Amino acid sequence: MKGKKAVLAVGFAAVLLGAFVAAHLFAEGDEAEFIGSKKCRKCHFKVYRDWAKRGHAKAFEPLKPEDMDKVCDKTKKKCVACHVTGYGKPGGFSDPEKDKHLAEVGCEACHGPGSLHADMSPRDLREIKKKGGDLKIKMADPEACVYCHNPHINFKELYGE
Ligand code: HEC
Ligand code: HEC
Ligand code: HEC
Ligand code: HEC
Repeated sequence: MKGKKAVLAVGFAAVLLGAFVAAHLFAEGDEAEFIGSKKCRKCHFKVYRDWAKRGHAKAFEPLKPEDMDKVCDKTKKKCVACHVTGYGKPGGFSDPEKDKHLAEVGCEACHGPGSLHADMSPRDLREIKKKGGDLKIKMADPEACVYCHNPHINFKELYGE
């Protein structure tokens, strides 16, 4: 009798574990990924055009290869952290060759990773917006600016022109 109960208990535990693992896997699949600003262009043409004209679109350009691993004395952050999209986050910029699409302060540097949002149809998105539902994209958080624009640092003075 006891043996049978133990087997049942183990079986039950296995089912629970299975459910836990499955839930976890699904949760992982639910995470949005960084896709790069060009993917936003087709639906947000005007915003894209305005962004492309400004400094954020070219923020990676002044960095030299040797700056990649350099750490800023004052902020203790790596140089690249503020000159790219999603540095240090899952699926964010990590390699200048592999991640060319994120070598910019792109849309997703302020709005967060956008794959799930961009995968929906404009029609569905407009419908969701009308109902006040989840568009799977963040409205930009003003705190995000401060991560890179530290008001106590004069970058021109620090790094020259
Ligand atoms: C398939 C078309 C499509 C793509 C691709 C797309 N969007 Fe959108 N987006 C929409 C639509 C449609 C809306 C909601 C209706 C509206 O505001 O016009 C919207 C709304 C938004 C909003 C406003 C959210 C709010 O709370 O009101 C932001 C921010 C946004 N998109 C950013 C992005 C970013 C960043 C990307 C690229 C990663 C992107 N979108 C890609 C169609 C798209
Ligand atoms: C991931 C880091 C990062 C974030 C987040 C960020 N910035 Fe920037 N920003 C930069 C860098 C780097 C530059 C310099 C780009 C260049 O000119 O080479 C810049 C330049 C600018 C400029 C001057 C250049 C121009 O053409 O407009 C303004 C204004 C600005 N940022 C405002 C903001 C605001 C407002 C926010 C938040 C809504 C913000 N930034 C968020 C990194 C960032
Ligand atoms: C904490 C975020 C941050 C870090 C770390 C950082 N930068 Fe910047 N960098 C910025 C911002 C924001 C600007 C734009 C500032 C402005 O225009 O006032 C900028 C501007 C610059 C510019 C001038 C760009 C232009 O077109 O005018 C250069 C060059 C630069 N950074 C190189 C570096 C290097 C090299 C490092 C590492 C030693 C570094 N940055 C570290 C945020 C950062
Ligand atoms: C430097 C940070 C930053 C970047 C980069 C950025 N945004 Fe935004 N975005 C904002 C902020 C802040 C707001 C809210 C403005 C407001 O409340 O009026 C906003 C608003 C929006 C909105 C809704 C309002 C509108 O104007 O339609 C959309 C859509 C949007 N952004 C899409 C994009 C797309 C697409 C890109 C890239 C091409 C992009 N954003 C790049 C900070 C940013």
